This record gives sequence, C-alpha cells and structure tokens, in this order.
Amino acid sequence: MNTQNKIVGEGLGFDDVLLMPQRSSIRSRFSGEIDTSASVARGAPKIHIPIISANMDTVTGWRMSTTLALLGGFGVIHRFMNIEDQVKEVRRVKERMRVIEDHPPVIPASATIRDAQRLLRERERGYVIVFEGESFDGSFVGIATPRDFDAGEGDTLLREVMTPKERLRSVPPGTTLESAVEQMRKHRVEKTPLVADDGRLLGVYTMKDYEYYQHYPHASLDYKGRLLVGAAIGVQEHEIERALALAEAEVDILVLDIAHGELDYTQEILHRLKIIERVKTPIVAGNIATIDGARYVRDCGADGVKVGVGPGYVCETRDVAGVGVPQITAILNAAKAFEHDSDPLPIIGDGGIRKPGDVAKAIAAGADTVMVGSLFAGTEESPGEPVEQDGILKKMVRGMASATAFEKRLALGSTTTRAEEYVPEGRTTFTPYKGSASKVLKRLRGGLLSGMSYTNARTIAEMHDRAQFIIVRSPAIPEQRRPLQ
Ligand code: XMP
Repeated sequence: MNTQNKIVGEGLGFDDVLLMPQRSSIRSRFSGEIDTSASVARGAPKIHIPIISANMDTVTGWRMSTTLALLGGFGVIHRFMNIEDQVKEVRRVKERMRVIEDHPPVIPASATIRDAQRLLRERERGYVIVFEGESFDGSFVGIATPRDFDAGEGDTLLREVMTPKERLRSVPPGTTLESAVEQMRKHRVEKTPLVADDGRLLGVYTMKDYEYYQHYPHASLDYKGRLLVGAAIGVQEHEIERALALAEAEVDILVLDIAHGELDYTQEILHRLKIIERVKTPIVAGNIATIDGARYVRDCGADGVKVGVGPGYVCETRDVAGVGVPQITAILNAAKAFEHDSDPLPIIGDGGIRKPGDVAKAIAAGADTVMVGSLFAGTEESPGEPVEQDGILKKMVRGMASATAFEKRLALGSTTTRAEEYVPEGRTTFTPYKGSASKVLKRLRGGLLSGMSYTNARTIAEMHDRAQFIIVRSPAIPEQRRPLQ
C-alpha cells in the first residue's frame, strides 16, 4: 500500500468558516442595490433568488415549485411518482402564469354546462372556448364562463348560453398584453381573444394573468412568460422515457438525480439524452464534491453541476458509507475545477443549509445557487399533511435513500434492488410545521442580502470574487446533524 497520498487535505463545513466583513458602499440591502439573480443551468433563464427546493418527495411537488417560482426562486419536482403524474405536476406549474393562453380549454357547442364545468375544474380556468364540429382547428363560435352557466341547467347545451363570437371584444395579432389590458379595462371584460385575420383563435389574454405579473414582479419566468420549473430523473433505462415526457411538457431544467455523480451512468445518460435523443432541455448532473468530479460532470456535457456528498439533514451517507466532503470545501472544489473556464458551469450547492448565513457562505465559496431540502420540508407547500406530535404540528422529512423512501420505490416498481440487500443511507424524521415556504424563502434571501452587503457584493459574481473566509473553531456536532433553525 502506498500511504503517501492517503490524506488529501482538510475539509471545511458551514460552521467552520465565517465571512470576513469588508469595506462596503452598499447603503441598504433592501433598496434594490443588490442583484441576486443567478443561473441554475446553461441555456435556462436566470432566477432572481438563487434558492432551489430539493427534489425530495417530502419537499418539492407542484405547490412548492409554484410558490418558489412566483417569488423568484425555483423548485425541482421529485421523481418518486410515475411519469404521468410527474408530467402533470410540471404542467400544473407551467399553466399557472402566462402572458397569453395559447392552449385554452376548448369544448364543442353541443357539450353541456356540466361538461364545461368539469373542464374548468380540470384546467383550473374561468372560461371555455366553444367550437362547432368534431374537433377544434382554431375556428370558434364563442366563449362561456360560469356567469353564462347561470342562464341554464346542468344539461343545457353550451351553444344556448355562451357569449357568441360576434359579441366578443377581440384583439388582432401583434397586440401586447398591456394594450389588451387597456381594451379589457375600457370594455369592462375579464378576457379578450387574440384572433387572426381569418377568424382563427391565436390565444386568450386575461386580466387574471395580467394581475399575476403585477403581483409577482420577480417571478422566475421562461421565454414565454410562464413559471420556471425543474424535474428530477434517475439513471435506469425507463428514466429515458421520463426525461422525454418531461421535455415534451416543456420542463425548463432536468436534474439527473444520482448520489454519486462520478459514475459511468452520468456519461451514458447524458450522451443518450443529448446526442441520441437530441433533448434540448438543459440538464444538471451531480452530485459531486471534488475537483475531478466537477470536471467529469462538465466533460460529460452537463449544463449545470450539483455539489454535495453527505451534508443533508436526512443524509446518512457519511455514517453508512464513510464518504463525504464538508460542504464549503466541496463547493470550493467545484469552483476551482472551473476557475479557468471562459463560461463556467453553474454550480448548485446542494444540502446542509440550516440557517440564512449558510446561503451566503455557499455562494461566497463559489455556488451560483443553493438547493434546500429539510428547511422547506416543514412548510405548507411541501407534499403531505402535518401531524401532531407532543402537541406540536410537524411534517415528515425523509432522505431519498431512507428505508421508507425505498419502500415507496419498491411499490412504484422503480428500483431493481432487492429489499433484503438494501441498506439505507438516509433517515426519516419530523420537522416542525412552519407555514408558507415564502417565509423560509424570505429569511434565506434576507441572510444572503445581508452577507452580500457585508462583503460589498452587488451581484453573485462579485460575491464570488470578493468574499473571503476566516476559519473558526469546528463544532462538536457533525455537519449533517446540525439542527434546523
Ligand atoms: P438539506 O440539508 O437541505 O439537504 O435537507 C437536501 C439534500 O440532501 C440530499 N439527500 C440525501 N443524501 N441520503 C443522502 O446521503 C439521502 O437519503 C438523501 N436524501 C436527500 C439531496 O442531495 C438533497 O438535495
């Protein structure tokens, strides 16, 4: 045995370092002087708040993704459900906000009010576009809303109650949302169809959509003005089908969910998706924690890298496998790997965030964004209901490599591992219920703004360049067991 390079260095976790205060010209961290926008992956639009909810089944479904994206963050929908359900969740986020509805709910004029009500519920809309004939080809004869439904019974035909096309105030191609809103205000209507010269429907502008934009000025949006959303995929053969279905649903970023990203799988699946299947959706890969690991993921063609081996609150990898790199060092390693690249791969610091200051530290170490699991698990938007334990409302949080998560995967048929052989590397626990995820996001963002202000950094890039750490006494608690705050 060669013992020469056995010890490769020392690792620093979040509690081992503090940011050095610096002479700053930032007058107020809340005045808009600081821009925290960041890239999650090459080829995807930037987000305003560099905070991403983790792809864990006790953390991110459509509700978490929607709330975070509305406020400027981002969520990655977990993959521990069948493909159809995951696609539905992605669509649900994408359908929440839009400049123009280009796929409105459509229904034949021969359908009943009851049919239309069902469609409204399914599509979560306030109107249906009515057409004559067998199928919708763009030609339409009117719009029906719940107000029109009051004029009939459940089995009344829509053509009897709808507002006919001739009476609608429509707008021509080229009309912007703002001028459509002017028209709607003038005529006191809530929606206006955008109609081509030949009478075909191109889309529908609604006041509701406009109000969303007013209400959420920092929302994370795609190029069509819809909320950004990510989704996780695995590495098994059937996950190709998942990736293709998610790409088809226009998910913005795919996240390859592998605990050890330096496996051959990473290269194989990226090659398959990008070269053979020609998937254009940006793909983030990970997780890695070393310089070589970061370069490997980059060279496999990923569009972003996820950094973190073992720092998570419900992780047991360090205890079970004895493997891990303290998170500040892991992020520094990734930053070092790309130091001389002209277009460095965006880095996601994944796991270990327990308090707002950790976000600032992760970004100071070189992360562009951070991924947060357990802190979001106890919120209203995380999947699952709160339970009462010792008089306190709590929500479950579990590692995706925990025994209970494995049971779920067995039930879904999404694992080939035999139950007798499985050794969990994650735990299941409960975390106090803390209301909306927006509160957690606000605290984390507040901490980041403060850290950036102390560092005199007006952008994430300046934070990367200017921030300096001082090493402080190591805590007695292992990094992954630090309490949530
Ligand atoms: P936090 O600390 O925010 O970390 O809860 C979230 C991240 O933890 C990782 N994760 C796991 N790691 N075993 C592990 O070793 C697990 O069972 C497990 N489940 C989640 C994951 O990277 C997540 O984003």
